[in-house]
Amino acid sequence: MLKVGVIGIGSISQFHIEPYLENKRVELIAFCDLNEERLVEKGKLYGIEKLYTDYKELIDSADIDAVSICTWNNTHAEIAVYALEAGKHVLVEKPLSMTVEEAEAVEEAQKKSGKTLQVGFVRRHGDNAKLLKKFIEHGELGEIYYAKTSCLRRLGNPGGWFSDVTRSGGGPLIDLGVHMIDICWYMMGKPRPVSVSGNTYKKLGNRSHIENLSFYQAADYDPNLNDVEDLTNAIIRFENGASILVDVSFTLQLKKDELYVKLFGDKGGAEIEPELALVTEKHNTILNVTPQLDSLSFDFNKAFQNEINHFVACCLDGSENIAPASDGVQVMKMLTAIYESARAGKEVYL
Ligand SMILES: NC(=O)c1ccc[n+]([C@@H]2O[C@H](COP(=O)([O-])OP(=O)(O)OC[C@H]3O[C@@H](n4cnc5c(N)ncnc54)[C@H](O)[C@@H]3O)[C@@H](O)[C@H]2O)c1
Repeated sequence: MLKVGVIGIGSISQFHIEPYLENKRVELIAFCDLNEERLVEKGKLYGIEKLYTDYKELIDSADIDAVSICTWNNTHAEIAVYALEAGKHVLVEKPLSMTVEEAEAVEEAQKKSGKTLQVGFVRRHGDNAKLLKKFIEHGELGEIYYAKTSCLRRLGNPGGWFSDVTRSGGGPLIDLGVHMIDICWYMMGKPRPVSVSGNTYKKLGNRSHIENLSFYQAADYDPNLNDVEDLTNAIIRFENGASILVDVSFTLQLKKDELYVKLFGDKGGAEIEPELALVTEKHNTILNVTPQLDSLSFDFNKAFQNEINHFVACCLDGSENIAPASDGVQVMKMLTAIYESARAGKEVYL
């Protein structure tokens, strides 16, 4: 049995808590949150009795083996290091940290502790992504030299800490771009990034005056706070010559939200979003192939269940961790270099 505590029980924590409750090899025993009212309410809802407002107390006094960290981005690294040094396994939500230095400190603490540190790159755990990864590993796409991805919200600044740069580290790039860049990079075989060129724009604000449209909000939604970008675009170059082109927004004068992930190889192509699809050629003919699986798109509930099950298997069985700290470090290098490039107005070398 793996005894688990969840730190930060706001909006996303439900997608950790419920899969833990579904997993027969887990005993969920403790919660921690700065917000006492939420803590008591969620404790009651899920029947959890050990409740803490200080994460150090949870880690030190609750009899746990592992924690999920679902707090604001500015505390991910600090809590992860503390938990690893206390000998606990850690599943930390994306992004791993706000800076490369913090990410490296987590990687260092993981190496010293020998415990599992899994980064919440949940898109890697979607059934569509797992299937595509298998095809790629069998060479179906050949060498992937280009990826193109977009996650454009016309109205979707979550407010609260998400739009307070001191707690989030940035806007749509660090919140949405982290997933989009990661899934492309992972599918491409994790080539070493060498340079980036990016642009950020703060033209529209959070548009909290817009009526009649709903969107994801932080548990403590506050539209008055907003000092993050509303749009980022970037090109990332890799050592092997491959590149990723990405754009992400919290808000944009766009007709309809857009989400796509496209990969291009010398033997075939693929899309993961909006739906899994393969492109290939046979007998001088281009074929668009639709694999048959329950959900061709990213299924939020299933992917989180897969992610939690993977974490439990890493902790209890020593299974190979598909989202280690070192991947979190590489992704943080790309994200911070994009912000740096946008600030400097020129290409940045890693
Ligand atoms: N994987 C995904 O698709 C996905 C989706 C949404 C959010 N997230 C990530 O999950 C994390 C949380 O996001 P959210 O939407 O749940 O935010 P939220 O604001 O709804 O919840 C965060 C909670 O953490 C608590 N908290 C903050 N600092 C704390 C601390 N030091 N100790 C204890 N509790 C603390 C807050 O009081 C709040 O209840 C973020 O890092 C975000 O990037 C991931």
